[in-house]
Amino acid sequence: MTEAQETVHDPIGYLSPELLKGHVAFITGGGSGINLGIAKAFARCGAAVAICGRTEERLAAAATELEALGARVAYKAADVRDPEALQASIDHAAEQLGDISIAVAGAAGNFFARAEEMSPNAFRTVVDIDLMGAYHTARFAFPYLQRTRGSVLFISAGQAYKANKYQAHVGAAKAGIEMLMKDLAVEWGPYGIRSNSLVPGPISGTEGMARLAAQSGDEAWKRAVPLGRYGDKEEIGAMAAVLSGPLGAYVTGSQYIVDGGIGLTSSAHVSEAVERELFRTEQ
Ligand code: COA
Ligand code: NAP
Repeated sequence: MTEAQETVHDPIGYLSPELLKGHVAFITGGGSGINLGIAKAFARCGAAVAICGRTEERLAAAATELEALGARVAYKAADVRDPEALQASIDHAAEQLGDISIAVAGAAGNFFARAEEMSPNAFRTVVDIDLMGAYHTARFAFPYLQRTRGSVLFISAGQAYKANKYQAHVGAAKAGIEMLMKDLAVEWGPYGIRSNSLVPGPISGTEGMARLAAQSGDEAWKRAVPLGRYGDKEEIGAMAAVLSGPLGAYVTGSQYIVDGGIGLTSSAHVSEAVERELFRTEQ
């Protein structure tokens, strides 16, 4: 790795602190990880930010971090699988901060499991959180997005288009999200509402990578990334801010892959390691 590649950089710092001034963002899963990274990027670009998740304490801690960045912040806990609770969280955000102009569907669940062994409820749980949760987010943000001619951003994953062992539930859910994104771009375009997806690659310091690299190890993952490293939450946040605000004004129905190129390479290293360690089988 060259010195230039190792240099700590601040992609959000290249964006104007007024880029999202006047915008109100609602972010599911915004209490942690990549989605909190997106919330912080929005806050640094001048948006008011509402976050949603199941855990009140996690939301409160994240809200403190966002307020420290100068943002007006709101949160109300909800499970994205529960339409009434999620609608209440979205309406609460709008009451506190104003009409929502950016909705981000980022909440998700993931674990490795063999397709033939996981229970129907295990499969359904991931589809419910990822796909139904994304639909609920767009559905209940719609009245606000219609008034603001806003934007919805779906946080997807490479599993949506690249086949993997032990990820059938995630692949089905994320692939569904990609088509939902395109359908809404067509159906809501006449209202001025834009709909896009962002596909992160392996991002450092996240629960997702803690789960996915637990068996195969970080180095195996990094070798699979053409750029040779994990991405940062800030790199995802910066792209989300570009797509969700005026810089993305003519972008809709598009999938943005921010993955260091891993979507182009084999996932065999993961399957072999998972088989060895997780399922304790000889290969
Ligand atoms: N392997 C196989 N099945 C699993 C599993 C695993 N590792 N983890 C959970 N399940 C099954 C459960 O057994 C249950 O099925 P059952 O009722 O037939 O036994 C079903 O999935 C639901 O599990 P439960 O723990 O009740 O769900 P939950 O709603 O409390 O939690 C999860 C959802 C399972 C996705 C949980 O991991 C979670 O909350 N994840 C959020 C964080 C995360 O995944 N971050 C990474 C984002 S990419
Ligand atoms: P994370 O920190 O675990 O993010 C998931 C968030 O969603 C948590 O804040 C969680 O909070 C919330 N959540 C989970 N289930 C929920 C539910 N039913 N209702 C409401 N909120 C719920 O994981 P992450 O790794 O940063 O992943 C964030 C997003 O990026 C996901 O969409 C994931 O698929 C995507 N992604 C991640 C990577 C990666 O490298 N990490 C790569 C590709 C894509 P509570 O538990 O408090 O509810």
